Amino acid sequence: MSIFKTPAKDYDLQTTEFVCNKFGLAEFLAENFAEYNLKCANVLDVGCGAGALSIYLAEQFSAKVLAVDLNPQAAACCRANVKRYDLTKRISVAERNFADLYAKLEENSFQLILSNPPINFSSTENPAFAKEDFISMNYSKYQFLTNGWHDERGLDLTDYILLAGRTLLAEDGNIVLVCCDADGNSAEYMKNQADKYQYDLKLLCERKISVAELGMTSADRDFVRGYIWLLSR
Ligand SMILES: C[S@@+](CC[C@H](N)C(=O)[O-])C[C@H]1O[C@@H](n2cnc3c(N)ncnc32)[C@H](O)[C@@H]1O
Repeated sequence: MSIFKTPAKDYDLQTTEFVCNKFGLAEFLAENFAEYNLKCANVLDVGCGAGALSIYLAEQFSAKVLAVDLNPQAAACCRANVKRYDLTKRISVAERNFADLYAKLEENSFQLILSNPPINFSSTENPAFAKEDFISMNYSKYQFLTNGWHDERGLDLTDYILLAGRTLLAEDGNIVLVCCDADGNSAEYMKNQADKYQYDLKLLCERKISVAELGMTSADRDFVRGYIWLLSR
């Protein structure tokens, strides 16, 4: 079990050592989300992990959520947590690679696509991340917590989220990404991605977050910068 703290309530979430089990970024989002007044009746949570963001939005904002994760252990924990908080009518969990799933989802059906994508998402060069098979990740490093999947063309989860947003977002819909800087250039990366997929990009919030809150045990620093990005069309 790991505790996920939100302004309204603390949640005890089932995790394993192979699932994102520190909720620093999810807590950062939860601290700030209400003030943005974003529509969130129908939400897609991409890379849901143990389900922190899905559970937060379903319980505190009455959102209907589709939660997706390719890690089987994450999907199993997420299902258990959804059941524990009696949210099975609001949250559906799909154990899928989002890259394979998004084209099958209904067009214009989400007011919010939300994700805390893999921590190293600004680094597209690291071959250790270019693996789809969760079990082949290097467990001795913090990478296993995030499973930064890339396809053979080097596209990562954010590429697919921004691609998917073009068809899946409702007219007034938005994408919100919460992430941190593992290598100092997340902001530049986000600007490039927004240009590439033609989104307006706004930095909603930025703050220092301790690596301990994120479970980055092998990181070579004590703090990283956390960001909440809004992408709209
Ligand atoms: C940083 S964790 C975030 C987990 C959770 N949303 C949270 O905030 O605690 C990123 C998650 O994305 C998942 N993921 C990475 N690539 C994915 C892909 N291509 N399709 C679906 N999930 C993916 C990982 O398995 C991991 O659970």
